[in-house]
Amino acid sequence: MERTLYERLGGIEAITAVVEDFRDRAAADDRINLKFARTDIARLTKMLIDQICEATGGPCRYGGRSMKEAHAGMNVTKGEFDALVNDLVATLKQLKVPTAEQGELLAILGPLKPDIVEVDSNEVGTPLPDAFRPAQALST
Ligand code: HEM
Repeated sequence: MERTLYERLGGIEAITAVVEDFRDRAAADDRINLKFARTDIARLTKMLIDQICEATGGPCRYGGRSMKEAHAGMNVTKGEFDALVNDLVATLKQLKVPTAEQGELLAILGPLKPDIVEVDSNEVGTPLPDAFRPAQALST
């Protein structure tokens, strides 16, 4: 039988490494990092791992909000979405994920764009609106 994308990426350890490198890259990227100003990064990290694990056929279950809900009122532009994808591609290259698997992962995430982008502009580095209320931090 065909192996799942989850298995071909290298399972939960490889996905965790991808998310952590990507998170740090996004945090250092002035094109998008203003949006994360009030976010609980531990929650975001866990949610991204669970989402990618589940979406690629792995054993995790994503328990976060829908992409529309999570990003509502954040005023993410088209340019900022593309910048984030650009950071993810840099991570996948850095961690030597093969091109076929890179393409498959991007094909899963790309279609989420209309649920996340609210502003049809190529502008980047736009602020997080004051009215945006972040998700509750993970309880420890
Ligand atoms: C395909 C692209 C994207 C995916 C798969 C994605 C995925 C996620 C996930 C799973 C969460 C967690 C939801 C929760 O905690 O319930 C989240 C939250 C968040 N995303 Fe995205 N996202 C994407 C694009 C973007 C972009 C382009 C930006 C901004 C430039 C962004 C900024 C944020 C921020 C700031 C949060 C935290 C919100 C909060 O604190 O409540 N995301 N995203």
